[in-house]
Amino acid sequence: VPGQTGELLEREEALTAIAGALAGAAGGKGGVLFLVGDPGIGKTTMLDECCRRGVALGFRVKRASCSELEQVFPFGMLDRLFDGIGAPPPPAGPTSSEARLARYTQLLGFLRQPARKALLLAVDDLHWADIDSVEMLGLICRRLPGLAVAVCGTARPWPSIAVDQARSLAHDRFAALLRLQPLSEQGSAALLTGLLGDDLAKRMEHEIHEMHEQCAGNPLLLSEMAGALARGNEPAPPAGRLGERIFLPRFAGVGGPAMRWAQAASVLGTRFRLALANQLSGLASGPAAQAVEALLTSGILRELPQGSAEFVHPLVRQAIYEDLSPVARQQLHALAFRVLADQGASPTEAAPHALSAELRGDRKAVAVLVAAGRLALAAGAIGTAAGHFQAAATLAGSFAEPRLRLDLAEACLTTGKLDLADQILREFLTEGLAPADLVAVIRLQARLFMAQGHYNDAKRRFREASQMAAGPDPALAAEALLDGASLGFLFEGQREALAGVREALDMLGAPYEARPLHPAGAGRRPARRLHVVGAPLSAVTGKVLHAHTYLSCVGGDFSELDSLARAAKASLDAGGQRSPWNWDAASGYANMAKAAERLMEAQGLFAALLEEADRQGAVLTFQSLAIGQADTLWRLGRLDEATQLLVRATDVADLAPGRAPFAWVGLAHLRHEQGDLSASQMWAEKVEAVLEKIGDSPYLRMWLSLLRCRDLLKAGEAELAARAGTVAAATAERSGILEPCLVPWHGAAIEAEVAAGHLDEAEALAVRLDEVNGPLPCRAPRAVAATGRALIAWRRGRLDEARQSFEVALAHNVQVPMPLATAETLISFGRFLRHTGEVREGRTLLRRALSVLEGTGAGRLIGVAQQELAGAGGRHRRSRSPGLLTPREETVAQLAAKGLTNAQIARALYLSEKTVDHHLSRTYAKLGISSRRQLMLAWRASATGAAEPPATASVDGPAPAAAANEGN
Ligand SMILES: Nc1ncnc2c1ncn2[C@@H]1O[C@H](COP(=O)(O)OP(=O)(O)OP(=O)(O)O)[C@@H](O)[C@H]1O
Ligand SMILES: [Mg+2]
Repeated sequence: VPGQTGELLEREEALTAIAGALAGAAGGKGGVLFLVGDPGIGKTTMLDECCRRGVALGFRVKRASCSELEQVFPFGMLDRLFDGIGAPPPPAGPTSSEARLARYTQLLGFLRQPARKALLLAVDDLHWADIDSVEMLGLICRRLPGLAVAVCGTARPWPSIAVDQARSLAHDRFAALLRLQPLSEQGSAALLTGLLGDDLAKRMEHEIHEMHEQCAGNPLLLSEMAGALARGNEPAPPAGRLGERIFLPRFAGVGGPAMRWAQAASVLGTRFRLALANQLSGLASGPAAQAVEALLTSGILRELPQGSAEFVHPLVRQAIYEDLSPVARQQLHALAFRVLADQGASPTEAAPHALSAELRGDRKAVAVLVAAGRLALAAGAIGTAAGHFQAAATLAGSFAEPRLRLDLAEACLTTGKLDLADQILREFLTEGLAPADLVAVIRLQARLFMAQGHYNDAKRRFREASQMAAGPDPALAAEALLDGASLGFLFEGQREALAGVREALDMLGAPYEARPLHPAGAGRRPARRLHVVGAPLSAVTGKVLHAHTYLSCVGGDFSELDSLARAAKASLDAGGQRSPWNWDAASGYANMAKAAERLMEAQGLFAALLEEADRQGAVLTFQSLAIGQADTLWRLGRLDEATQLLVRATDVADLAPGRAPFAWVGLAHLRHEQGDLSASQMWAEKVEAVLEKIGDSPYLRMWLSLLRCRDLLKAGEAELAARAGTVAAATAERSGILEPCLVPWHGAAIEAEVAAGHLDEAEALAVRLDEVNGPLPCRAPRAVAATGRALIAWRRGRLDEARQSFEVALAHNVQVPMPLATAETLISFGRFLRHTGEVREGRTLLRRALSVLEGTGAGRLIGVAQQELAGAGGRHRRSRSPGLLTPREETVAQLAAKGLTNAQIARALYLSEKTVDHHLSRTYAKLGISSRRQLMLAWRASATGAAEPPATASVDGPAPAAAANEGN
């Protein structure tokens, strides 16, 4: 723009804000600033200044600008912004929602990478950015605190998407938002003086006042008027919308053909390809070249590389464009559309012209819009896709193909765009749909109800969908029932879900027989085991059967666990997509292997599945698996790793709220174990808030009750703690989530009842625990029950019995590599010994608890153990003394002591034999022994006089996942 003086007037506030954002980012605290203002007020100028300062401060600067016609490019703004700075290309997720999530998590991952330089992301004209980019940029801005990244964006107040986003960020204190003000009269005078020179300015003193008024202090308009004066023209007062017409006099000298050329180009946006504009202008190549030349020399156009050009200022383009008559504009867009379509340009490029040309009823136009929508959907640009489909509907008077819109609705649901999903689904119901599509619509509506927390409506909808499909398509009907079962599990628990799955099996004609399972406790219905006879008939039958097995396990019936293990192996070998929504064989088995204390196998399987999901960009599946793996790692005493995984899983919650409460409850639990009670509470409150919205969810309720019970016990509120334990117990019985390892609430509940003096209740809990655990292979619940019995006996004064029970508990604990569970027993036992006079032995156990916990980060238990130890007059040697085993060494030694060969250990732990050998020789050195036999003896001795020696070879046989590794 001519008349640039380079001097920035009256922008102290904005400069301070820029300095603030950059300083924040340079200090690793992130900084976000939005500059908002009318056209020509000086936004781009300030952004340029921000970039200059960024460079001066050593930032790596990336700048992008948006323009009107590029709004339709899926993630166009983000692609330009992150282009060329080493961000990996966005992975194509298997579904649209996953593509969206994958892009987000990948960008976050990129920004979190440690980098030598701080990064400045500068975006001009955000009001023209595509809606999906704006949304995602908003999410990213919420994640910047803690990172050396600054974001500076500019926007006009209209279109409002960008400003709305900026306001919400500013409201939540993630960003500063500044409105650029017009220049004051002095400012205007200074600007004009700078542009006109002192002499002329002095002579025009009176006019300067008028010019300020006419331009309302807008620097661009002022500069333009000054430019006209300098060229010797009579300055036209700015007229028309936003005063854009002030630019038109610039065209006075360029001549008719150049004007025509510029008009044609204005239809293509601020930036465009010269060849295309030539074509639209209708000029022959000679006159076209002359027109371009004239426009370049009169400061209307600027040349860009690769045969492109741009208008010098967006307002110049806008002025020409708006000067066209509506009919002329439409005709030019129609022409642009034809030319682009004939050239085979991408649908995305052609689509906006189809719409602007209002090509109603034009088949080709509709097809191009639908194609553009499909592309956007595949990229996860849900907002853009919705816009294209809407546009197609406007032109065609009917909607795009149901399948595409179903995909869109599904993506909206998954990514929390419930209003949009609702709208799309409602539109469907006004059309005559094929039966299968109608069933799909109703299933999605059910999911919508579920997301809105209307459980009963959702349940009814799933049922309707299934009934509708039952006659013509039993497989589809069964899938709808399976959906309903997933929902039922969340809201009512295992029993409800299992009933739905059985109905689905009936629907598919899968034969099964029911047999009684473990005896029911007093007043309880007998549990029944369902045994499926015959081979799976189809993919759907297989799916339903896996769900059935999974739910049986949750109910405490592991009889089909090995068949699930086989299915898991087959499924892992086959690869392909996994559903994060229903229970698939591989992840279902991994979860159950975890509950069945096949921990190493679970850990290995989860790791393989996580890697697969990561590779596929299947972010939702990754999230579900991460929750399972974190749970497994917690059991193995690897709390930091578990936490990291869950934190990663919660990133996705920004965009896909569905599974988030499960990740949050996991974090509440982990933080609790780590001793960070306030963080734990924060996560727990988030879960509570969800439960308040959706009603209740037994599985989540059980976890929350466990946390509450522990907190209250710690606070000495035994009665209240016992009540929290009762809630967990009642929820388990009601929901059928009886498997005692999934949510290990029994130990705390029994302890609370004992502390409250309710010994009968405590006893009943221990009895029930043994009962449900009876047929299960799990050791940890046995240890919990035995510890509970020990506490009860102690309270009743039967010390010998108590001691024996503790020893039984420990004998169970040493057989599984669960350091926290082992430490719980050791601490209780140590406390008992301390109080019954055997202080020395008590101290030994407490020290052992501390060494078991070493490296786990289990702050809560470490604190308890230390406190007990201090009470027993002992101090724990904090530094790692020689002779103390690392958790890994301990695990390896434990398995070796059980009689496993190095090869078996290697397989079980997913280590190489060499590593196992290495761990063992270090262990031998530390323990001062030289043979495996000595190790067995030492281990037995160190198990604190365990009443029964650890059974040999009772660990899990070679697991499917382990077996899969065998070949390599
Ligand atoms: N504070 C200022 N002092 C002096 N000149 C300024 C100031 N702000 C802007 N200008 C001048 O005004 C003109 C328009 O500014 P700019 O292009 O930054 O506006 P904008 O807000 O980005 O407009 P748009 O919304 O159309 O993108 C430029 O020529 C710039 O040099
Ligand atoms: Mg600008």
